[in-house]
Amino acid sequence: MILVFAISDKGGTGRSVTSANILYRSSLAGRNVCYLDFDFGSPTAGTILHVDEVGRGTNTRTGLHSYLLGRTDQPHEVDVWSETDRSELRNWPPNAGRLVLLPGDRNGGEFAANSDVVERCVRLFNRLKEDYDVCLVDLSAGRSYAAQIALAATAHEKLLPGMTARWLVFHRWTRQHIVAASALWQGAHGIVDTGRRLGHNDHVLANMVRFVRTAVVNPNSEQVNVLRAAQVAFLLRADEVLRGLAHREGVGTTNVLGQVPLEPLLQWREQLITDSDVEREIANPETVEAFHDLSVNVIDDAMWEGL
Ligand SMILES: Nc1ncnc2c1ncn2[C@@H]1O[C@H](COP(=O)(O)OP(=O)(O)OP(=O)(O)O)[C@@H](O)[C@H]1O
Ligand SMILES: [Mg+2]
Repeated sequence: MILVFAISDKGGTGRSVTSANILYRSSLAGRNVCYLDFDFGSPTAGTILHVDEVGRGTNTRTGLHSYLLGRTDQPHEVDVWSETDRSELRNWPPNAGRLVLLPGDRNGGEFAANSDVVERCVRLFNRLKEDYDVCLVDLSAGRSYAAQIALAATAHEKLLPGMTARWLVFHRWTRQHIVAASALWQGAHGIVDTGRRLGHNDHVLANMVRFVRTAVVNPNSEQVNVLRAAQVAFLLRADEVLRGLAHREGVGTTNVLGQVPLEPLLQWREQLITDSDVEREIANPETVEAFHDLSVNVIDDAMWEGL
């Protein structure tokens, strides 16, 4: 099983929406996939996956908060294909894999990463391994307890036999986001620094991190046709500067797993983008293509060879 940790330094980067769409594309391709909402301070993944009942987490008192804190042994599982409120999704193709959400608890909050929590997290990953090809863990933004739990749970490979852990750092294509994403990866108290203290080999861990650029406007695309000539010229210069910055910060093209274009539909609504959204021309085909490519690249070993 591939275990993917989705993280970002900033909030509102598109981490959850992109993650949900990556898993959706993966399940359409026949893989069994699971989304774990580890954004403990704000567990709203159900909204993106169109399951209103768990839009702000589950009220069964068996969400991931309860599970990790030892209040239940069976975390609530939501089968998105059958429980979704978006009727179009209920006609899922026969060859699709499972698409399951493990929601957090409604009104659950952050909690510290003690050894009991980490042990239950390891146990959960080992159990999910039997059922899923890909599990994606959506972590809180920044240097969170959720990230510490994830790093501690994956520090010793022998505790997670048959699993490969990979990290996706999401960031917008701006100066602030590029610098922040780089620091989250390699800076003090970032992924590698924290991981080392928890028992990871830092070189191995550093190589298990790839970047995903979100909501990017390509100044050479049709998307800029609505802009004035001076704006396009500015955008071209800014893009050039950002490329240089990303390269210097170590988040240049070699360790970028993918890039998602700015999608007008997603600016209005966090959602899964279906092929029918594209057919009806309310979403851009390039966006779906980017999600599809990410769903392939995240499990493609060649994209994760040492840099
Ligand atoms: N490619 C895109 N183009 C335009 N808007 C996008 C794109 N990706 C995401 N968005 C929008 O950006 C907003 C933030 O996205 P999302 O909630 O996924 O971010 P997040 O990093 O998970 O945030 P949080 O830290 O609050 O959990 C949402 O309204 C989402 O629909
Ligand atoms: Mg989110």
